[in-house]
Amino acid sequence: MKIKKTDALSSMSILGIETSCDETAASVVKGDFEILSNVVLSQDEIHAPFGGVVPELASRQHLTFIGYVIQESLNRAKLKLDEIDVYAVTQGPGLIGSLLVGLSFAKGLTYYFEKPLIAIDHLEAHIHSALLDTRNIPFPALALVVSGGHTSLFFMKKKLNLELIGKTRDDAAGEALDKIAKFLDLGYPGGPIIDKLAEKGNPQKFAFGLPHMTDGSLDFSFSGLKTAALKKIKEYEISKSHSDFFDFLASFEKAVIRALLANMAKAINIYKPKSLILCGGVARNKKLRQQFTEFAQESRLSFSIPSPEFCTDNAAMVATLALEKLKSGEKPSFAQDLNAYPRRAHINGVRLS
Ligand code: KG4
Ligand code: ZN
Repeated sequence: MKIKKTDALSSMSILGIETSCDETAASVVKGDFEILSNVVLSQDEIHAPFGGVVPELASRQHLTFIGYVIQESLNRAKLKLDEIDVYAVTQGPGLIGSLLVGLSFAKGLTYYFEKPLIAIDHLEAHIHSALLDTRNIPFPALALVVSGGHTSLFFMKKKLNLELIGKTRDDAAGEALDKIAKFLDLGYPGGPIIDKLAEKGNPQKFAFGLPHMTDGSLDFSFSGLKTAALKKIKEYEISKSHSDFFDFLASFEKAVIRALLANMAKAINIYKPKSLILCGGVARNKKLRQQFTEFAQESRLSFSIPSPEFCTDNAAMVATLALEKLKSGEKPSFAQDLNAYPRRAHINGVRLS
């Protein structure tokens, strides 16, 4: 296994690969964090008829296109495979079949070219995407990852040090948005569609209760909110042609945002952070970005939200996190030993699975 010495890290090239869910992504990043390419092939069209990701179809799509996506990322970076110094790949959490495509492909490349491989945690990569634009964020920080598969709150004592302090006990926030959109036959993925349509509505029109954890934990729950929304849809016969359609979507979106920020507020009181991070696919939502910004400013805390292209799944966050790990002295994994993991389990910041 060949790896450049630390003093040569800034001149190296890292290829990142991401296939944890339904985006096939590859990115080439230079050792000074310059992103040379960031290619994302979305599978939205494939899954749209089903109103959600079909795991078997997702892995097959990854398998068909991963070679093309990697080649395109190299073309855009004007590099050849044998010029890549280090590989980085998402190991988990995610759909196991999807993860295995990226991981196996990365293992094959590192075996053939005798190069090191850095295994990357998907949620840690999402959080790292918030540090791409705002590199000097003060620590400790609280990081909220909101996506289609996850709604998790982390305490970060310092860079690369994560402690899971809250997670969803049922649906993720993005999943709740996607399911309500599916129920109303709005298309897939529902999050961005609701984002757009809700702009035209009055968020005060429908009242939703705030999910509440009776044990005082910082966990989230979105299935109750989803059920309440479904009940209202039936009760008021909400559909695309209903006069209150936009108001309903705006009210539901507001309820989701309120639940996210309420937990953040609780966590601030306990952990006294210096800054806040918002990331993951749902962090593309305009209202959430705006209200999170206001919330951080009112709390007098620094904050960072990735630019929209880095909120949804991408491989630039994988490659740059790998670089950060290398710079901090972390040793690359031995490629052929790695296995994918579908879920994340933590005790005191140490990953167990
Ligand atoms: O991070 P991501 O690409 O994949 C996962 O790791 O899950 O997040 C996808 C999620 C989907 O639920 C999608 O509906 C949601 O992000 N999303 C949005 C927006 N754009 C994507 N939700 C609300 N507003 C948006 N603009
Ligand atoms: Zn993601």
